[in-house]
Amino acid sequence: MPDNKTFSGAAGERMYDTKGKLIQAHGGQIQKFTVNGTKRWYWIGEDKTDGYRPCGGIHMYSSSDLFQWKDEGVILRTMDTIEDFMLPYFKQTYGDLDRIEQKRLFVDLDRQNCVIERPKIIYNKKTGKYVIWFHADGRCPGSEGDYGKAKAGVAIADSPTGNFRFLGSYKLNYHNDPTADYGFDGWENRGSVRDMNLFLDKDDTAYIIYSSEGNRTTYISKLNDAYTALAAERDTAREGIDFTRNFIGAYKEAHAMFHYKNKYYLIQSGCTGWSPNPASYAVADCPMGPWKEMGDPCPDVGKETTYDSQSACVIPVEEENGIYVYMGDRWNEQDLADSRYVWLPIQFFPDSRIALPRMENWTFN
Ligand code: GAL
Repeated sequence: MPDNKTFSGAAGERMYDTKGKLIQAHGGQIQKFTVNGTKRWYWIGEDKTDGYRPCGGIHMYSSSDLFQWKDEGVILRTMDTIEDFMLPYFKQTYGDLDRIEQKRLFVDLDRQNCVIERPKIIYNKKTGKYVIWFHADGRCPGSEGDYGKAKAGVAIADSPTGNFRFLGSYKLNYHNDPTADYGFDGWENRGSVRDMNLFLDKDDTAYIIYSSEGNRTTYISKLNDAYTALAAERDTAREGIDFTRNFIGAYKEAHAMFHYKNKYYLIQSGCTGWSPNPASYAVADCPMGPWKEMGDPCPDVGKETTYDSQSACVIPVEEENGIYVYMGDRWNEQDLADSRYVWLPIQFFPDSRIALPRMENWTFN
């Protein structure tokens, strides 16, 4: 049995919070925030307590050591009916909204129909707000499928533990050529967003990385100064300046970007739903690329499924010492609540090559 100073890694043991409950933070992200003078790790992710649906919203945990995780609760809550806006929690979070506003927000918070995936959070020094972006999808008027809406949702709060106020969901940048191949989305559904992630650069510029054009192409778009919207209006944004299209037609998702020694790295998966596939990675000098494809980061047995995992994020544990941890999801389609977390150390080699070794019960030393 791994003790509390060991990561089970590719063994994918269950992970529990300090009260002994299974951690519900899938498709997540871990980073350090200083809150009221105290530095802690914050782990945000999908709450899949009830499986796929009802949708459990976004859960947060915190830790001083990456081993013991305190439950900080569901920080972005979903609703059973639109009348829930009258409940004390939602009144406190949203105040008095008129019916039109309630309806607009409810589409993305409706537990019985919405899909909330891959939530990510960044802190904005200028506004003092924590900003969450997530893949906002699900059934909605005009779209019966779970992934037809294909938008990005945004929420803000004064603390990483909430309450987060959901602002809305949006289509993002698109390639302005109606004759181009938009995959299964088509031109009508341009600007679609499915798997996504955020990246905050050293110069405080933030980016959103997302699968678009029917998952064919990876977009990387600049966010505005508040991190709550795109930097440039969707219909006038300039391709190559405000956003870039990367790995065109390569069908990548599960984007995990990080920075190490003047290089930007992006680990991704292929598109096979809950089933794992081989990972790939790329290296660039700037967050928006151009990206140089470097192949599969996994050298060991089980690489054809990334050791039965799909990338969620990379944790910059100690950047100065090159300690980075790959965090993947081992989805269990039959029982999503029991999906596991696969954490592996990242190894760095000359010429910007990296490796994800298959390791079980490993420690930092
Ligand atoms: C995966 C994606 C997950 C989830 C799943 C649903 O490809 O990475 O976040 O959307 O599909 O099938």
